[in-house]
Amino acid sequence: MATATQAISVNENVTKYVAKPRKMLINGKWVDAASGKTFPTYNPATGEVLARVAEGDKEDINRAVAAARAAFEKGPWRNLTPSERGRAIWKLADLLEQNLEEFAQLECLDQGKPLVMARMMDVPYSADQLRYYAGWATKIEGATIPISAHGAKFFAYTLREPVGVVGQIVPWNFPLVMATLKLAPALAAGCTMVLKPAEQTPLTALRLGELIQEAGIPDGVVNIVTGYGETAGAALAAHPDVDKIAFTGSTEVGKLIVHAAAGNLKKVSLELGGKSPNIVFQDADIESAIPGAANGIFFNQGEVCCAGSRLYVEDKQFDKVVDGVSQIASQIRVGPGMEPTSQMGPLVSEEQLNRVCSYLESGLAEGAKAATGGSRQGDKGYFVKPTVLVNTTEKMKVVREEIFGPVVTVMPFKDVDDLVAKANNTPYGLAAAVWTRDVKKAHRIAAELRAGTVWVNTYGVLDSAMPFGGYKQSGWGREMGKEMLDLYTQTKSVCMPIS
Ligand code: NAI
Ligand code: MG
Repeated sequence: MATATQAISVNENVTKYVAKPRKMLINGKWVDAASGKTFPTYNPATGEVLARVAEGDKEDINRAVAAARAAFEKGPWRNLTPSERGRAIWKLADLLEQNLEEFAQLECLDQGKPLVMARMMDVPYSADQLRYYAGWATKIEGATIPISAHGAKFFAYTLREPVGVVGQIVPWNFPLVMATLKLAPALAAGCTMVLKPAEQTPLTALRLGELIQEAGIPDGVVNIVTGYGETAGAALAAHPDVDKIAFTGSTEVGKLIVHAAAGNLKKVSLELGGKSPNIVFQDADIESAIPGAANGIFFNQGEVCCAGSRLYVEDKQFDKVVDGVSQIASQIRVGPGMEPTSQMGPLVSEEQLNRVCSYLESGLAEGAKAATGGSRQGDKGYFVKPTVLVNTTEKMKVVREEIFGPVVTVMPFKDVDDLVAKANNTPYGLAAAVWTRDVKKAHRIAAELRAGTVWVNTYGVLDSAMPFGGYKQSGWGREMGKEMLDLYTQTKSVCMPIS
C-alpha cells in the first residue's frame, strides 16, 4: 500500500461539510428525517464514520413526493421556457465545475475512489451530462402526422410532455455521475423529482442539492431523500403518486422495483448488473489489448456495471495476455484515494469487501488459480488486490455472477462460434468488447453479441451522447443520448378536422 507519500490536505469546505449531520432537501428546505434518525456514512479507506446523514423513510418519501407533485402541478419549472430551463441546468454545470475540488474530495472520501479519478472523471463527466441535456431542453419536439382516416382532412401533431413526478434511485459506484445522469434529462423534460442516493455514498448528491438551489431551480422540483433501500427506496418505488421510477443498481433490486411499481403501473427504467465479455482475437494489437483489458476491469476498483469481467483470449495469445494483464494488476498502487500515488482505492463498504472476498474464496475452492492477487489487502479499510483468475470454467460462480470488484476471469478459446455462444451465455447483456485487426470480423461479432454496447479495440468508452443500457436482465430502456429523453417524456397526439 502506498503509505510513504503524504495525503492531500483536505479541502476546507469538505471539512466543514462532514462536520455536521447532513439534512435532506424537501420542497426547497433542508430538513431532518421525520423520525429524527440519522445514519453514518463511512470512509472506506479507514472504516471510520465520515459523516452522519438524515435517515429518511416512508414518511419523508411521502413529504418529498407531495412537494414534487405540487411543484409539477403548479408548474414553476415545466412552464418556464425551454431556454430558461436549459440555462438553469447549464448554470448548475458551471457551479459544479467551480466547486470541482470539493466535490472530488467528497466523492473520494465517501466512495473510496482515487481523488485523481474523481477530479479527472466523475466531476467533469457530471458537468458534461448536465450541459448535454441542457442543450436538449430546447429540442424536445413532436411531429406533424399525415392522417388517412375518415376521408376528411385533419391536422394532427404530437406533443412531447414531461412524464410527471419521477423517483430516481441510484447506486454507490459513481454517486455524483449517477445523480446528474438521472436529474439532467428529467429537468430538461420539465419533470419534478425525488432522488434517493445510495446509503453508502449520500454526500455528493446532497451537496449538489445546494447548487441546485443556487442555480435557481425552483423549490420542490428536485427533492433529495437520503436513507436505506429497504425503507426509503422501497417506499419511493411503491408510491402511488410517482409517475415513473428510474433505477440503477443490482438486478435483484431491479426486480423488486418492477413489483413495487405494479401498484399504480408507474413507468420503469432499469440499468442493472453485467458480466461483460471482453474478447481478444490473436490478430489484435496485443500491446493495446492488454492495457485495455486491464483498464476494462480494474477501473473504479472494478465497481463498474459494464466492467469487462470475463476476458476471452484466442488460445495462441492466451499466455501473453494473462501475463500482461497480471503484470499490470500486480503493479497497480492500491491505497487510500486521498494519497496522490493511489491508482485504486478501497471497495465502497465492508459488505462489498466481504462479497468480493467470498467470490474469491469460492473461485479458488472450485479450482480457479490466481495468476495475481486473490485476497484482501491489509486489514484496515476495504482494499482488495487486483486479481486475475485462470483455470476457470463456465460453471463457476466467479464466471457466472457479477462480482463488482477488481476480479477478472481469463479463459482461452479456439472456435469463434463456440466463443460467441459462451460470451452470450449469461443472463446479463450490458456490454462487450472485441479486439481484432480484422474489420469484417469485428462488425460480425459485434452484431452477434447480445449486449447494449459493444466496443471494438477499446473498452469502457461512455459518452453523454451515446445510448447505454442493457439487453436481457441488464435492464429496461436506454440512458444517455437522445433516447434517455424518452424515459422522461410521453407523447400526446392532438388531432382536429380542418375540412
Ligand atoms: P442495491 O441494488 O441494493 O443498491 C442500489 C440502490 O438501490 C441503493 O440506492 C439502495 O438503497 C437501493 N435499494 C436497495 N434495496 C431497495 C429496495 N428494496 N427498493 C428500492 N430501492 C432499493 O445494490 P447493493 O446491495 O449496494 O450492491 C449489490 C450488488 O449490486 C453489487 O455487488 C453489484 O453486483 C450490483 N450493483 C450494480 C450496480 C450497477 O451500476 N449496475 C451498482 C451497484 C450495485
Ligand atoms: Mg461512505
